[in-house]
Amino acid sequence: MITASASGKIILFGEHAVVYGQPAIAVPVEQVATTVQIEQGTKGIWIDAPGISLSADLSTLAATHPIKKVILDFFELTNIPQTALKIQVTSTIPIASGLGSGAAVSVALLRGLSLFFKITLTAEQINAIAFEAEKIHHGTPSGIDNTVIAFSRPVYYIKNQRLETFTVKRPFHILIADTGISALTKVAVGDVRALVERDPIVYGNWIEQIGQIVSSAKTCIEDGELIELGSLMTQNQTALSHLTVSSPELDTLITTAMSHGALGAKLSGGGRGGNCIALVDESSIEKVTAELLKAGAKNVVHTLIT
Ligand code: PMV
Repeated sequence: MITASASGKIILFGEHAVVYGQPAIAVPVEQVATTVQIEQGTKGIWIDAPGISLSADLSTLAATHPIKKVILDFFELTNIPQTALKIQVTSTIPIASGLGSGAAVSVALLRGLSLFFKITLTAEQINAIAFEAEKIHHGTPSGIDNTVIAFSRPVYYIKNQRLETFTVKRPFHILIADTGISALTKVAVGDVRALVERDPIVYGNWIEQIGQIVSSAKTCIEDGELIELGSLMTQNQTALSHLTVSSPELDTLITTAMSHGALGAKLSGGGRGGNCIALVDESSIEKVTAELLKAGAKNVVHTLIT
């Protein structure tokens, strides 16, 4: 039996605007992950994914099922004949919560299949297949989720452009707080698109402002300017609220983090639920975590961005 995994991710800056060609910054989050175990089966390809209540033979899944798409794309790319397999998918990444659960399943599956069949797939190949599955999850994805997870490194991402990374001058602490509410990215992205089409000047302007915030945030990360970075996070949240992708639960957690010493806070990912992130000094990690839990966060994960 082989085991492979893929981390979760957070978007530090730029979600939604990235769909319109603006830059965004995302980093892997190793504290949460999807794990895939693959062994020889007896008949067909059997998938067990208890997190999404899936226990089925691959052939019975719709062609548009993202797991089926990834596995069939793997066999097509590699020209390996299909054999009987038993595949188990488990994950500590909450579903539909902005932490990249869908992309992590795709990347973990592809890493697992390439290990099982002893062939090398490049990160680019894994990324390309995972992107096709993202289209099923998201409709019109920017590709940021699959990219940051497939390459396992921080990215300064612009759709359809060569991958850029960045250096972190002063490592910084991020708390990731889960509202416990799952929300479909596809719906939020579709709603933002409707707003932009209805009023391109007003909403296009928010999207451009987010792009400028992201570009300044990259400079702050490279220069170690954490106070300014926090302020940019909060400005990014204001713009996201105007795009209608925040929610009362996210707002409560963001306000809580800010009133207990966070340097900045915003939602992360598709929004409307899912997770928010707060930039905190090392000295306030414990206090802010406790307050977030008191304010209703279902879980708080601490990660250090280096
Ligand atoms: O999958 P999520 O919820 O982390 O959202 C991805 C980020 C969006 O910008 C909202 C969509 C996209 O495709 O970039």
